[in-house]
Amino acid sequence: MRAAVVTRFGEPDVFEVRELPDPVPGPGRLAIDVTHAAVGLIDVYVRQGLYKDRAGLPRPPYVPGLEVAGTVRALGEGVEGFRIGEPVVTLSGTGADGGYASIAVVDAAMTAGLDGAGVDPATAVAAVPNAATAYLALTEVARFTPGERLLVHGALGGLGSAFPGMARYLGASAVVGTARRASLDAARASSLPYDEVVAGEDLIEAVGERRFDVVVDPVGGRLRTDSLQVMAPMGRMLLVGNAGGDWGHTLPSNALWGGNLAVLGFAAGFYLPTHPEMVRPAAQAALKAIGQGLVDIRTEVLPLTQAAEAHRRVENGSVGGRIVLAL
Ligand SMILES: NC(=O)c1ccc[n+]([C@@H]2O[C@H](COP(=O)([O-])OP(=O)(O)OC[C@H]3O[C@@H](n4cnc5c(N)ncnc54)[C@H](OP(=O)(O)O)[C@@H]3O)[C@@H](O)[C@H]2O)c1
Repeated sequence: MRAAVVTRFGEPDVFEVRELPDPVPGPGRLAIDVTHAAVGLIDVYVRQGLYKDRAGLPRPPYVPGLEVAGTVRALGEGVEGFRIGEPVVTLSGTGADGGYASIAVVDAAMTAGLDGAGVDPATAVAAVPNAATAYLALTEVARFTPGERLLVHGALGGLGSAFPGMARYLGASAVVGTARRASLDAARASSLPYDEVVAGEDLIEAVGERRFDVVVDPVGGRLRTDSLQVMAPMGRMLLVGNAGGDWGHTLPSNALWGGNLAVLGFAAGFYLPTHPEMVRPAAQAALKAIGQGLVDIRTEVLPLTQAAEAHRRVENGSVGGRIVLAL
């Protein structure tokens, strides 16, 4: 098979496209003929070596890629419920890798069928994993209920952009996004179902008297602390990432009890392996929301040979949607 290999931790130029032996699925695993693999910030962090001491994550040389779409090539022992040739997409489980390759071996439990969904594979891999994450974060963690109001930071980012559609699907009464000033025009021009997108730098003034029941924060830093001031009583803030890169940021804990607020964390990659029964309902909700046109994420497709360029662009925050590699 052909694969883009991270040869050592470091800059995007560590990628090499190589021929490797075809992998064979072990028990509980599936081999997929990959047509498309999504590139996310998590792939960048792992390549940089940020998680090099964390158990279960790959070390060079390795093939990155947590999320793939393609067709089932072979079933490992004990795998049921899939047929050879069936179109599928994977959600991301801990330690999942191997996606930037013409054949990927994945956990069958983390895989969802696309038969009859009417979603092409590039769209599926760009949108289903993040929309499924949004569904799980909103329903299982934030306990979102119809009529509630949502604020989403990183409104146009790969993960952030899945939330407005999923919140609408779940009956949100208002959805406001934030973006950096440089990205505001693009965010406002997108077809994502935001009522409004405001500059994160001006959050408090821009939202005025409006208050939010759920805040979704994949960005962190000052925006995270500012958000406490625009939450409704009994509001929940969902911490889902740290795209702003301020890894040492802390929150003023007294603001929580004083304001009747909750701060919750969610990482799909660590949740799904222990809750495999949630893969199917989350994928189904994602496909329904996508089918209703609610998760129309801007997707750019690059060839596998441009894996380094894809990483460069995700790393410098210039994507405004998702980059997907075509095999
Ligand atoms: N919890 C989970 O299960 C899960 C799943 C997937 C990803 N993640 C995490 O979520 C985060 C985002 O991942 P992604 O793949 O969506 O990345 P992405 O597509 O690159 O999006 C990042 C977003 O963050 C914003 N941003 C970047 N740097 C910023 C800064 N310095 N200040 C303010 N905003 C900034 C960008 O904003 P603008 O549009 O305003 O320029 C962009 O919208 C990462 O930390 C990733 O690890 C978590």
